[in-house]
Amino acid sequence: MIISELIKLGSQNLKKGQIHTHALDSEIILSNILKQKRETMLTSMETIVSNKDVKSFKKLIKRRLNSEPIAYILNVKEFWSKNFLVNKNALIPRPETEIMVEKIIQYFKNKKIFFLDIGTGSGCIILSLLSELRFSYGIGLDISKKAIDLALINSENQKLKNKSRFYKRSLNNIYGYKFDLIVSNPPYICNHQLKNLPRDIKRYEPKLALDGGNDGLDVIKKVIYKAKSILKKNGMLALEIGNGQHRSVSQILKRNGFRNKFLLKDYQNNIRCILSILEWLLRVLISNIFMNNQKRRPFRPRTNKNNFRIRNGSNRSNKSDHYQSNIGNNNFKRNGSMSNPFNVEKTIQKFQQLAKDAQSLGDPVLVENYLQHADHYSRRLSELNSKIKPLINKNQENQNSNNETIDQKNKEE
Ligand SMILES: C[S@@+](CC[C@H](N)C(=O)[O-])C[C@H]1O[C@@H](n2cnc3c(N)ncnc32)[C@H](O)[C@@H]1O
Repeated sequence: MIISELIKLGSQNLKKGQIHTHALDSEIILSNILKQKRETMLTSMETIVSNKDVKSFKKLIKRRLNSEPIAYILNVKEFWSKNFLVNKNALIPRPETEIMVEKIIQYFKNKKIFFLDIGTGSGCIILSLLSELRFSYGIGLDISKKAIDLALINSENQKLKNKSRFYKRSLNNIYGYKFDLIVSNPPYICNHQLKNLPRDIKRYEPKLALDGGNDGLDVIKKVIYKAKSILKKNGMLALEIGNGQHRSVSQILKRNGFRNKFLLKDYQNNIRCILSILEWLLRVLISNIFMNNQKRRPFRPRTNKNNFRIRNGSNRSNKSDHYQSNIGNNNFKRNGSMSNPFNVEKTIQKFQQLAKDAQSLGDPVLVENYLQHADHYSRRLSELNSKIKPLINKNQENQNSNNETIDQKNKEE
C-alpha cells in the first residue's frame, strides 16, 4: 500500500468510530510510524509502505478507535516547543497551561528564582520554566510515583536534571522551604462532572489528575493554604483553574492574603489562570509586633494612690532592660509563658553553613534553597529591627518622663 491509501483507510475507519479529528489523526499516526515529519510525509504520498509498517499502523488506528488519546498512543506531546514523554500515568499537557507558563516567564525574565510546581505530572510546567529562566531552580512534587518517574525522564531528556528535583510527595508534606514562585495546575473537576467528560479523557487520563472533589476546589484550596506558609513575602502563586471557578478562587485567595496580579484567559476567552501575590506576611508581622508590644507593655513603675513609686517586689525595670538588650543583640528570646527561643541571627548562620555543606556536596538546588532561607531570615530580621526600634525609643521616652515626674514629686516632698 502507498501512503495516500493508508491515510485514507485510517481516516475512514476513525470517522466511522466518530473520531472527529479522523484525517489528522490518521496522518499523525502514519508519520510517527514512518519516523517522518507529517509535512514531509505529505509531499511523498506515492511512496510504498512496508508490510511491517502497515501492520503497526492498523494496530495504532485500532487503539485510537477505542478513544485512546493520540499523545498516549505515540507517547509524546509537544509543549512549549519541546517533546515530552507522556503516558497514562500523567495528564497530557494542555495548550492553556502554556499561557500560564508564558506569563510567568515574562514576569520573572532574567531573575534567579527558586520555585515549586505542585502536581507536576509529566513535568511540563517546571521544565518549560527552567528552560527559559536560566538562573533558576525548581522542585516538582506529585502524589503519584509514576508521574514523578515520568517527570524525571523528561528532565533528563531535556538536560535539566541539575536544576530540578522531583519528589513523590503530597502537597501537605512540604516544610522547610521558602519559594519565590509556586505554580500549580491542580485537579479541578467536580467529581460529579467526571462522568460527563469526553470519552478519551475519562477513560484514559488519571483520575488523580482530574478529580477536584465535590466542588472542584479541594486541591486548589489546599494549594492556597500551603502556599501561604511556604511562599516568600511578595512571592507569586500561579494557579490554573477550571472554567467558571475564578470568582470563588479569587475570594479564597483574598481571604488568605493574596492579591490578584494577572487573570489569564484561554483561547475561548474564559479566565483559566490566576497569578497572585502573597501580601499578608507583612500584615501578620506588624500585628505580631503590635501584640508583642501590648504584652510587653512599656515599663511603668508601680505607684501607690499618691503616685509614689513602690520599690518592693520584683525588679521589673531589669526585665525592660533585658528586652532592650535582646533587641540590640537581635536575640528574640521570649520570657515566661511566651517562651519560644528563636535566635534569628543563629538561624541565618545555620542556613549559611548548610548552604556551604550542600555546595561541597555539589547540590546546587539545595544550596539555592538554603541561601534563600538565609536571605528570608535576614530580611525578616531587618524588618523586625526597623519596626521595633521606634517602639523601644518610645518606651524609653515614656520611662524617662515617668522617672522625671517621680523625681519631681520626691523633691516637692
Ligand atoms: C491536572 S494534573 C497537572 C499535571 C501537570 N502539571 C500539567 O500541567 O500537565 C494534576 C497533578 O496533581 C497531582 N496531585 C493531585 N493531588 C495532589 C496532592 N495532594 N499533592 C501533590 N500532587 C497532587 C496529580 O497526581 C496530577 O499529576
